[in-house]
Amino acid sequence: MIDPALLAAYDRPVPRYTSYPTAAQFTPSVGPAEHAAWLRDLAGGAASLYVHVPFCKELCWYCACHTMAMNRPGTLDRYADALIDELDALSRTAPGLILEGVQWGGGTPSQLGATRLRAVGECIARRFDRHCDAEISLEIDPRHCDREMAAAAAAIGVTRVSLGVQDFDVTVQAAINRRQSYEDTAAAVDRLRGAGIRRFNIDLVYGLPRQTLETLAATLDLALKLGPDRFAVFGYAHVPWMKPHQKLIDEATLPDNALRAAMSALVAERLVKAGYRRIGLDHYARPDDRLARAAADGTLHRNFQGYVADRAAFVAGVGASAISTLPQGFTQNVADPARYMAAVADGDGFATARGIALTRDDRLRAAIIERVMCQNAVDLGPLCREHRVDLDAYLATLDLRGLERDGLIRRRGAKIAVTQAGRPFVRFVCAAFDRHYVGAEGRHSRGL
Ligand SMILES: C[S@@+](CC[C@H](N)C(=O)[O-])C[C@H]1O[C@@H](n2cnc3c(N)ncnc32)[C@H](O)[C@@H]1O
Repeated sequence: MIDPALLAAYDRPVPRYTSYPTAAQFTPSVGPAEHAAWLRDLAGGAASLYVHVPFCKELCWYCACHTMAMNRPGTLDRYADALIDELDALSRTAPGLILEGVQWGGGTPSQLGATRLRAVGECIARRFDRHCDAEISLEIDPRHCDREMAAAAAAIGVTRVSLGVQDFDVTVQAAINRRQSYEDTAAAVDRLRGAGIRRFNIDLVYGLPRQTLETLAATLDLALKLGPDRFAVFGYAHVPWMKPHQKLIDEATLPDNALRAAMSALVAERLVKAGYRRIGLDHYARPDDRLARAAADGTLHRNFQGYVADRAAFVAGVGASAISTLPQGFTQNVADPARYMAAVADGDGFATARGIALTRDDRLRAAIIERVMCQNAVDLGPLCREHRVDLDAYLATLDLRGLERDGLIRRRGAKIAVTQAGRPFVRFVCAAFDRHYVGAEGRHSRGL
């Protein structure tokens, strides 16, 4: 049980730190010219590729991703063409780029349909060399994964599929507008296995409307029966000011912070008992899984796709709203799909709308925050040396007394460790290193 006074003290919005600075700090001062110039630094080097498809068959009310309901074949055709144009521009701008991994995210990439998915996948294979053990992962909506889709995924080399479940309880499903039976989900897993894709993740969410500890426990039992090698179990982010469709969710039916904390603890207990290792804030993996091995040997990374075991520090993102992590900074494409397609067609193949150039100070803070998010511990000494920052001067700028007093961290000189009690609050530990953090309403979601 988490102390209710502690929960109350930390009941304020805080970023998920999939990057530092976070996307809230991106500005339009970074556009296609900077994106192209920064991509040139990747020529002959290595990066992961992220492909965003901002479409779903229908909209789930809880969703905070950049997506929309889209079933018009003409629009899907034009979107696949735009992805191919942007991939062409990427390969021209960063010739010799070697892909350490490819992630298809959304939205729902499988919403492109088998033929378009193959066309874009074949373009990637034609334009880029891949590292021999590169993982190619694809998000699939299990409710719409027929044999043809499973075969198309296998044909473009997909090695891992990420399946959205969220919750198996029918009352919760009605409250989030996502009806999905266990049987349909299991059938999708069988089809993917039949096509030769054996590695898969399941996404669940706690903190959903009408969810209780009992419904969550039942969902976990069913999800475990599917036998995934990884789980991602996110805390529901309620951000109706950014995602107006979330207003369809009755806020009175949302679990409070204390119940959310109990749910998070239940998830950890059940999945760890079932043999999964807890990875960072919200991922779980079998001990022999690449993610668990990366966590064990200290090579786990965190980027906009969550926790990753990629060796490459950089990500080239294509598609509407896609974010690139480049040597000089972050860039993000325009989020609106129509504007994305127009921008790719009009200019030099890029649709960058905003971003941020990194300063030396940002790089040090980013490195600290990534260690804390991935390892629950950081030694500021070596990081300050690596970033040529005076350790004593840097320590003097930090105020960690509140976190220490609350028992969330233990500090010995420059070594900081998140305590067991502090793990649910790890994002607040990161916030202590975030120059931009104000803890105000209206940006990030609240709750553990
Ligand atoms: C981009 S979605 C892809 C889901 C996939 N399209 C499907 O329908 O199965 C990736 C994951 O983000 C998580 N997610 C989306 N909205 C969220 C929110 N508001 N709070 C927490 N997690 C969320 C869900 O677990 C979801 O499966």
